[in-house]
Amino acid sequence: MKKTRILVIGAGGQIGSELTPALRRVYGSEHVVASDIKPDICEQVLNEGPFEILDCMDEHRLIEVIIKYKITRVYHLVALLSAVGEHKPLMAWNINVGSLMNVLEIARELHLSVFIPSSIGAFGPSTPKKNTPQDTLMRPTTIYGITKVCGEMLGDYYFKKYGVDARGLRYPGIISNVTQPGGGTTDYAVEIFYKALEEGRYTCYLKEDTYLDMMYMPDAVRAAIEVMEADPDKLVHRNAYNVSAMSFSPRELKAEIQKHIPDFQMVCKPDPAKQAIADSWPDYMDDRAARQEWGWKHEYDLSKMTDDMLKTLKKRQRHHKEISS
Ligand SMILES: NC(=O)c1ccc[n+]([C@@H]2O[C@H](COP(=O)([O-])OP(=O)(O)OC[C@H]3O[C@@H](n4cnc5c(N)ncnc54)[C@H](O)[C@@H]3O)[C@@H](O)[C@H]2O)c1
Repeated sequence: MKKTRILVIGAGGQIGSELTPALRRVYGSEHVVASDIKPDICEQVLNEGPFEILDCMDEHRLIEVIIKYKITRVYHLVALLSAVGEHKPLMAWNINVGSLMNVLEIARELHLSVFIPSSIGAFGPSTPKKNTPQDTLMRPTTIYGITKVCGEMLGDYYFKKYGVDARGLRYPGIISNVTQPGGGTTDYAVEIFYKALEEGRYTCYLKEDTYLDMMYMPDAVRAAIEVMEADPDKLVHRNAYNVSAMSFSPRELKAEIQKHIPDFQMVCKPDPAKQAIADSWPDYMDDRAARQEWGWKHEYDLSKMTDDMLKTLKKRQRHHKEISS
């Protein structure tokens, strides 16, 4: 059997900086090549295995790297995210769809498998908000969402027409503590932890009763690995699976943080643009298809995630204080 050799595109981002080390633990450091358009990314990703500067809009360079390392699987993580995309819609379309087309065309020619992350942003205001079905109305109102629906359909198209093994997940907002989020609508759920520890207060850009689906990074990383390793005969919904772990509002997250930091205060000053995006997304998805077809199971709920985020960030704060004193 051919050995799995992986290229991670966008390895310096919020997900890539934690997915790449996890992939290296599973497949071996030398078999997982990290790449990003920018060189100044997380040291662990740079130091623990091969790294290439790569602009995924440049298909010739993409082919060069894929051939150089005999790549068999691509994790394509590049996208302009929801809030940033609304300021640069044309760029979001060109990057999100253009780079995916480059990857899928090369996958077709060189017989690669491809991981394509979709998002809760692929849904829109006409989608059922509670227990959002796997197969449902998808009419997103952001350019990000439009590119994500397009990505899901391109994945299906390349699978059906050319047999490209493209698989994907509809990720909720991802909460993590290694690399800062890149400009999504759910970023508040990360910022709040830093502010709680640094300042004891946080100003939230969403209304306090805005429910959104969220997931802690260790679950997001494991889902990305497991779906690509799943038995292909069992996959009905390849592109892309609803995957859920927890759904909460800013008020509930504040209350959970207050169990650890009783004096923590939060005020809400909704940003109309971000609030409108959040209001168009589901409260929580029905992820039974992922659970049935490839055994998806989340590990972190709100309380376990909050506990781990605060412990990890406190430990890092102490470490920084020790080095600087
Ligand atoms: N983070 C989330 O909450 C979340 C939720 C749902 C879906 N997703 C999806 O997961 C994927 C990864 O998200 P993320 O949060 O890690 O994004 P991110 O913005 O944090 O990281 C993207 C990375 O891509 C790199 N990049 C940008 N343009 C590039 C180019 N032309 N060539 C090569 N690299 C380039 C950036 O430098 C960055 O390191 C995206 O497709 C996103 O839509 C993320």
